[in-house]
Amino acid sequence: MGDHEKLLAQISESSDAEAVNKIREAALEQLRSAVPGLFASIPELPPAERKARGQLANDVKRQNEELLAACKAWFESAELRAERSGAGFDPTIPGTRPERGSLHPLTRVTRELEDLFTSMGYVVLDGPEVELDWYNFEALNIPRDHPARDMQDTFRCDPQGNVVLRTHTSPGQVRAMERMKPPFRAIVPGKVFRQETTDASHEHTFHQMEGLVVGRDLSVGHLIGTMKTLLRGVFGKELEVRLRPGYFPFVEPGFELDARCPFCTQGCSVCKRSTWVELLPCGMVHPNVLKSGGIDPEVWSGFAFGLGLSRLVMLRYGIDDVRHLLSGDLRFLEQFA
Ligand code: PHE
Repeated sequence: MGDHEKLLAQISESSDAEAVNKIREAALEQLRSAVPGLFASIPELPPAERKARGQLANDVKRQNEELLAACKAWFESAELRAERSGAGFDPTIPGTRPERGSLHPLTRVTRELEDLFTSMGYVVLDGPEVELDWYNFEALNIPRDHPARDMQDTFRCDPQGNVVLRTHTSPGQVRAMERMKPPFRAIVPGKVFRQETTDASHEHTFHQMEGLVVGRDLSVGHLIGTMKTLLRGVFGKELEVRLRPGYFPFVEPGFELDARCPFCTQGCSVCKRSTWVELLPCGMVHPNVLKSGGIDPEVWSGFAFGLGLSRLVMLRYGIDDVRHLLSGDLRFLEQFA
């Protein structure tokens, strides 16, 4: 066996990384120093000797490369063996946790409310966020020049203003009436848009949940009972409520329903020291709205409410700035994981 073969055999039989490394260093050294010299010397030789010198140079180069390849293979298989042996592996060290997402607080509260309302016989409906002026205003008893339009600064999608970003979920009322035969109960959760200057309590995009019940002989009593059930579901306890008159052209009478502050008895920052929180605009569906939805107001009556989902989520989790909700900031969202 020549020296070269011996070295190759030595590498493949070796269990000694240091020895293999030494062979590798030597081979590298040869490649770097001897090989270029051998090639460079060829032109200076008499022509008869050039061929032999060229062959020698190529042999040295090839042998070195073989040695390097053998060393590389040795280290690779050694690494594999070490890994497979399990040595140096500590099963008690905690693994790296994969990052997990979580439900957005708005999604959570929406789902909870959907569960609550479906258990009371409501269906969950969806409506378009880009809405016709007809559904957003006209059909809700708010004609074009009605001053009530000023209450909701509207994003318009066309110069004539026939298409708008819905400013509330109430267009879902009329769409529900068109789709379903009375009696029925429906909720319409979703995103709404208003041209607002944003601050801690105003955002141009926020969430509401409309509720609509159409039946025979419905009264304000039914409305209050439903609202109390809703609040019990959300806050997990009975809350005293009060009604104040509220003006919305699509309900008559219309109310603002306040609940006793769920967080205090004496007044706190949430209820602005009043012990009441303003929670739910609501009222009995105006006959004109029933008519817009193709329902005879002589036969049927209804009540509706417009739950401020964003506000409810803020109350529920003690969030002090509405802008956090849609910020997409992980530092905020991770708190709900
Ligand atoms: N849509 C109204 C708003 O966003 C709220 C509302 C809904 C009031 C249903 C009464 C009945 O201001």
